[in-house]
Amino acid sequence: MRCKVLIFVVLLDLIKHASSDEIQANPNTNATLPCNITFQGNTLNVSLIRVRWTRNDSSIATFGGAEEQIKEGFSWDPTNFTNGDFSLTIMRASLSLQGVYECKVSYNSEDLPSTNVTFSIVAPPTVSVPQKWVLLEKETEFECYASGFYPPPVFFSWSIEEQVIKPPIQVDGEPGPDGFYTAVDKLTNFYPSKENQNATFSCKVSHSGSDHELDFHLNVTNLPSVRLSVVQTRSSNAPLTLYCDVESFYPEEASVSWFQNGTMLPDPPVTNQNNDRTYTTRRYFTLSPEQRQQRGTVECAVNQPGVVDPVSTSADLDKLDPQDEAPVLTNAAKASVAMMCISIVLVFLLCFGFSWRRRDEKQKSLTVSRIILPPRVIVGQKGRVSVSIEGRRVDRVQTTWFLNDTPISDTSLTASEKGPLLTSRGEMGYYKLHTQGPLHSSGKGSHLISALTFVPQISLHKGAVFKCQVSYVGKDKIVEERVSERFTILCKKSEYINIFHFCYNLNVTI
Ligand SMILES: *[C@@H]1O[C@H](CO)[C@@H](O)[C@H](O)[C@H]1NC(C)=O
Ligand SMILES: *[C@@H]1O[C@H](CO)[C@@H](O)[C@H](O)[C@H]1NC(C)=O
Ligand SMILES: *[C@@H]1O[C@H](CO)[C@@H](O)[C@H](O)[C@H]1NC(C)=O
Ligand SMILES: *[C@@H]1O[C@H](CO)[C@@H](O)[C@H](O)[C@H]1NC(C)=O
Ligand SMILES: *[C@@H]1O[C@H](CO)[C@@H](O)[C@H](O)[C@H]1NC(C)=O
Ligand SMILES: *[C@@H]1O[C@H](CO)[C@@H](O)[C@H](O)[C@H]1NC(C)=O
Ligand SMILES: *[C@@H]1O[C@H](CO)[C@@H](O)[C@H](O)[C@H]1NC(C)=O
Ligand SMILES: *[C@@H]1O[C@H](CO)[C@@H](O)[C@H](O)[C@H]1NC(C)=O
Ligand SMILES: *[C@@H]1O[C@H](CO)[C@@H](O)[C@H](O)[C@H]1NC(C)=O
Repeated sequence: MRCKVLIFVVLLDLIKHASSDEIQANPNTNATLPCNITFQGNTLNVSLIRVRWTRNDSSIATFGGAEEQIKEGFSWDPTNFTNGDFSLTIMRASLSLQGVYECKVSYNSEDLPSTNVTFSIVAPPTVSVPQKWVLLEKETEFECYASGFYPPPVFFSWSIEEQVIKPPIQVDGEPGPDGFYTAVDKLTNFYPSKENQNATFSCKVSHSGSDHELDFHLNVTNLPSVRLSVVQTRSSNAPLTLYCDVESFYPEEASVSWFQNGTMLPDPPVTNQNNDRTYTTRRYFTLSPEQRQQRGTVECAVNQPGVVDPVSTSADLDKLDPQDEAPVLTNAAKASVAMMCISIVLVFLLCFGFSWRRRDEKQKSLTVSRIILPPRVIVGQKGRVSVSIEGRRVDRVQTTWFLNDTPISDTSLTASEKGPLLTSRGEMGYYKLHTQGPLHSSGKGSHLISALTFVPQISLHKGAVFKCQVSYVGKDKIVEERVSERFTILCKKSEYINIFHFCYNLNVTI
């Protein structure tokens, strides 16, 4: 017996004591709290080992002889005890398991110095910068979030292309219900420039000695150009369709609102219900210029649930959308036509001193002269007014003449050339309409003269104007309209015979 005790005294001398430890773990990971007693030589006799792990005076695990108790959520390996390894493993690290754990070991009823292990949780932050659409040169604010970290605090800093634009600042943040913290920092008063458009921005969060960086790029919103137009309709009682061309915007998401007198117009319902429970709808489709040029037929097919063959209707684009324009010209041809038109116009200007009203886009294909009045109009003697029409499709042109706003019809077969000087109301007098042409003047342009012969009467023509409307055959749209100057009457009246001299005054108005 004496001998045995002696052996153990010698053995214990060789034991080195482990120092106290600090163990950190991420949440939900396994963490081992070490408790090692290293000694040389023989393994320990397990039946003489007593181990007890406590935290805050409450027992976590005990081992004594063959008896073993361990709390749920912890584990150890008693087969390692003989090697002097009494480590305890925390199975799922969490904030509530933080604290100082004490490991007490005795061997053969002799207490060995205890080991204290401080266990704590370290949770790194998750860094996020909410996506934001920015306008160039407009004040912008970015937010950087560090969430789910423990323990506080964190340090935020901002940089562009690795150049710090806001130095680190400390933020403690706020704990959430789970005990982990969230902190936010703002980059304010920032005016994005064009150079920033492709630059790498970065929000850096330092936490417990490690850095967490999030790179991001600007998402720049491009403002559109907006044009408002109307689908032309003839009748003023018909519904009017407006359209808005919104161009060069980014990103794709955009919605359009309509206002009348500053009041927002509600979106019309896509479908209307009829009295008999059925529905009515109207859908629009805009063909691109390319699709429009492809011609052919267009078809509208209505798909309904359970219907295999949808109801559809189709139409020929040539009927729906007749094209007056000649086939598309190559650029070279356009240029030569343009040159020709210019030279014709110059010739006309030189020869007749005519002036043209400025033509708008739609009238480009026709050139219509002023109404040419005869230099002298004498009562009772035939006079002639005419317009000259120049263009590629004059063969399809028709003219309508008006005296003031009354349409003139050819009365040369019914009215007398020698009518009374004073006509009764509603009477139109003598008119003869002629058309000369089309004459192929040169190259592609043709030339048409529409003329009107009339017998001047003072009651009808004094102070009156002639009007000539030019349109295409079969179309209602008036392509051009010309109005003559008023007749200026310088008249002499002999006592007995009524002879009026109408003297034409060449007042040119533009
Ligand atoms: C923790 O240990 C247990 C038992 O050894 C194992 O099943 C589990 O996968 C471990 N968990 C992690 C996160 O390593
Ligand atoms: C404790 O023992 C284990 C296994 O023998 C070893 O992996 C660990 O490093 C030891 N720890 C210390 C602090 O000595
Ligand atoms: C361990 O100790 C027990 C009790 O003192 C004793 O009965 C046993 O023989 C010992 N085992 C060894 C291998 O020393
Ligand atoms: C330890 O125990 C004391 C008193 O029993 C208590 O106030 C304290 O909160 C406990 N600490 C931990 C980490 O459980
Ligand atoms: C027991 O010891 C072995 C070898 O040192 C080691 O691999 C194992 O992880 C230990 N078991 C525990 C529960 O610590
Ligand atoms: C371990 O902590 C306890 C109190 O929790 C203390 O009484 C003891 O002296 C500490 N031991 C060491 C080795 O620091
Ligand atoms: C941004 O990058 C794209 C492609 O990497 C490039 O086409 C564009 O010109 C760049 N813009 C600026 C403003 O640097
Ligand atoms: C913002 O831009 C980035 C790349 O610069 C892109 O990955 C991201 O999808 C954009 N955000 C949105 C909401 O489109
Ligand atoms: C809209 O404005 C016009 C002219 O300013 C006015 O005549 C009309 O009554 C207004 N309509 C409504 C609904 O306010």
